[in-house]
Amino acid sequence: MKKLAVYPGTFDPITNGHIDIIVRASKLFDRIIVSVGENPQKKPLFTHSERMGLVENVVETLALDNVDVGYFSGLLARYADEIGATAIIRGLRAVSDFEYEFQMALANRKIYPDAETVFLMPSEPFVYLSSSMVKIIAQNSGDVSIFVPKPVEIAFHKKFGGKK
Ligand code: COA
Repeated sequence: MKKLAVYPGTFDPITNGHIDIIVRASKLFDRIIVSVGENPQKKPLFTHSERMGLVENVVETLALDNVDVGYFSGLLARYADEIGATAIIRGLRAVSDFEYEFQMALANRKIYPDAETVFLMPSEPFVYLSSSMVKIIAQNSGDVSIFVPKPVEIAFHKKFGGKK
């Protein structure tokens, strides 16, 4: 049976750290669906369609033939069930991620027991990276080129009126 995994996130915006996880996951599963969702606790800078467009653009440039892009609203576990995913990929950067990720993995397993949450560690340079950090740097005219792919850099330029 083909192993399908979902890699969900808010992706506000997608960063090089997310890309690192996508590439790692693509070597472990037959098919990965990078899925843009909503975290009800977050107020994203980029709209759903902007985030989705950026993820699509970036995934296309990766040219990995087993990686696709999707979106979902509502519960992640229900979505995973609907598409027949047997794994939910999450990046685990530091111990501080653990508590939240642990809770989410257990809640998802209660709702949809057939999917296992699989945690992958990013490469060291991305361990401290977060979308919030990148947004703050971009908002304050900092250089984000080492943290995000080119399309995201361009999107920041547009968002902040030509500022870096
Ligand atoms: N590289 C860089 N950053 C990374 C990363 C990596 N490898 N792995 C995680 N992060 C960062 C993200 O940039 C993000 O940073 P931010 O908080 O500054 O924005 C943070 O870690 C985690 O965000 P993300 O991975 O996008 O997940 P999330 O916590 O926003 O959750 C959903 C997003 C959509 C998966 C989750 O909210 C969800 O499942 N929602 C649906 C409702 C549901 O089913 N909830 C669970 C059951 S109650």
